[in-house]
Amino acid sequence: METMRWEGREFLILDQTRLPGSVEYIRCRDHLAVAEAIKRLSVRGAPAIGAAAAYGLVLGAMGLETDDPGEFLAGVERIAAHLSSTRPTAVNLNWALGRMLAGLRSAGPGKPEELIRVMLREADGIYREDLEGNKKMGRLGQELIPDGARILTHCNAGALATAGYGTALGVIRAAREAGKKVSVYAGETRPLLQGARLTAWEMAREGIPVTLITDNMAGYLMARGMVDLVVVGADRIASNGDAANKIGTYGLAVLAREHGLPFYVAAPFSTVDMNLRSGAGIPIEERSPEEVTHIAGVRVAPEGVRVWNPAFDVTPARLISAIITDRGVVRPPYEKSLREIMKEGIGD
Ligand code: MRU
Repeated sequence: METMRWEGREFLILDQTRLPGSVEYIRCRDHLAVAEAIKRLSVRGAPAIGAAAAYGLVLGAMGLETDDPGEFLAGVERIAAHLSSTRPTAVNLNWALGRMLAGLRSAGPGKPEELIRVMLREADGIYREDLEGNKKMGRLGQELIPDGARILTHCNAGALATAGYGTALGVIRAAREAGKKVSVYAGETRPLLQGARLTAWEMAREGIPVTLITDNMAGYLMARGMVDLVVVGADRIASNGDAANKIGTYGLAVLAREHGLPFYVAAPFSTVDMNLRSGAGIPIEERSPEEVTHIAGVRVAPEGVRVWNPAFDVTPARLISAIITDRGVVRPPYEKSLREIMKEGIGD
């Protein structure tokens, strides 16, 4: 199942808000449609929104009506700023747009059609490298997964959240490909149910045994000895290893520590923000109250009730047993180990 596809002068995005009920693609003809799709979570997951924004920037550049190189670059920068403003937490969005702009600048002044070709190649590169990185992360990460492991995951860090294969779910896929018998508990992930709608769907389609639980069941699941480890994705990892991921992740990490279970974070190195000293600097997106007061369009709370709806939380590095990246698996102290793989690209 492709999460996105470039088709001539159009960009197709799988509308994840409709899954698992129906498989529909949104046809984007300009960057505004891509920005809207990112905002409403039609495309979601840190690496996927980075790749989608890169293609959105190409569409935006194609719509610029100028032959002047300076005006062209300024126009592309304006569009990048708009795309970047769609969601604040996942650093992959800015990382991908930054890489697109750097590629454009280093191509030097040129005719817009040539520069657009350069941009499209860069976007394809971001997409392809994400897929390759996920497979590598899977190979490295699966070594941490014992045969027979019962694995709890949260939200969706699968093929749908990336260019394909997935990060946390990529590790699970790779364990299975290595011949291990693994099974998955998917937390439903209120308010938007990515675990129920997307992770359960992805796992079931591949015949990986999956059991759906509501988020508030995780503690009892662990207390009953029904789970062996937790693996989740991330939206932004600070240089000290603090990791932002879907709201509810922090609670799982605390529970895992209480029950002596390993808690792993799987993410490409593009999710690591080496400019941040700690998770305190990670901007946390707050979304609309309707996501909490309603389920699938049906009101479940009284009119006028006050709502707080942060979309992510931050898990402190001390609760994370290891971070699985496409450059290697790192352990605490993360200040040191993340810096080392940044410099050396361990495992490349
Ligand atoms: O709000 P979402 O659905 O974009 O949140 C996604 C997550 O929190 C994922 O776990 C994270 O982006 C990692 S995806 C490989």
